[in-house]
Amino acid sequence: MVSNYEMAYDETGYQPPMVLLHGYPFDRSMWRAQVDFLDSHGYRAVAPDLRGFGEVSDRLQFVADADSRETERQAEAYRTITNMEDMARDVASLMDRMKIDRAVICGLSMGGYVAFDFNHLFPARVHALVLAGTRAPADNEQERQARFKQVDQMLNAGMEGIAEATLPKLLSPRTLAEKPEVVAGVREMIVRANPQSAAAAQRGMAARRDYCGDLSDIHVPTLVIVGRDDPIRPVADSEFMHQRISNSRLEIMEGAAHLTNMEQPQAFNQALLSFLKEMALTGL
Ligand code: MLT
Repeated sequence: MVSNYEMAYDETGYQPPMVLLHGYPFDRSMWRAQVDFLDSHGYRAVAPDLRGFGEVSDRLQFVADADSRETERQAEAYRTITNMEDMARDVASLMDRMKIDRAVICGLSMGGYVAFDFNHLFPARVHALVLAGTRAPADNEQERQARFKQVDQMLNAGMEGIAEATLPKLLSPRTLAEKPEVVAGVREMIVRANPQSAAAAQRGMAARRDYCGDLSDIHVPTLVIVGRDDPIRPVADSEFMHQRISNSRLEIMEGAAHLTNMEQPQAFNQALLSFLKEMALTGL
């Protein structure tokens, strides 16, 4: 079953399509450098806003009605959960609308969880996978509690504090020191996220499945990417996936932490391009 959520998206290029799924609490703008690069190399790239992020469909914009009373908004926000499967079904429905049968599914962090669920629900629609800065195990209880604490914080105080607390983990010391435009871009993306939507996704991540059992069933070509300095999803998480996915390759990006594609766009893009070219050479 696909869904009827209407996602905003950027699209360019030709075949083979690559669908780029953003992390949390970001939006499709984080893929700008990849969409432009893939387009300039003749590839079709689709970068949607996952449910509740970026441009939100009016029809399904939950808890955003300006007239609703604050207490109702808060109560609704605490009830609402966006599961990774919901997002995966949204992606399938977008692909249906765009007449894309199969695609290379590329997800960063939360986007990686969505990619796992997409692969589980719609395996025939996955041409290949790119798993960046993500991991297979579910959260432990302590990690879940930390997410619920963040939900409280964002619903009560908005996204500013979240941006300040997470920037030093999302970006490497090198990016923080040398790339002020990247730092500013990431901060803006976090601050403009809707707190209710981000809370719903945070709760969805807390409830996500353990994907470890899926790994040995993945046989499509898979590129695993991680930043050398990622404290959120360290290199060991990617090595774990690489060791268990038979047809996988691991790329470690130097000078990057969690947001590898924004911190080291050239290295990230080259890794994507070699992966796509290699698949074409082997006839996949
Ligand atoms: C992300 O970047 O999408 C998040 O760090 C994922 C997570 O919190 O597990």
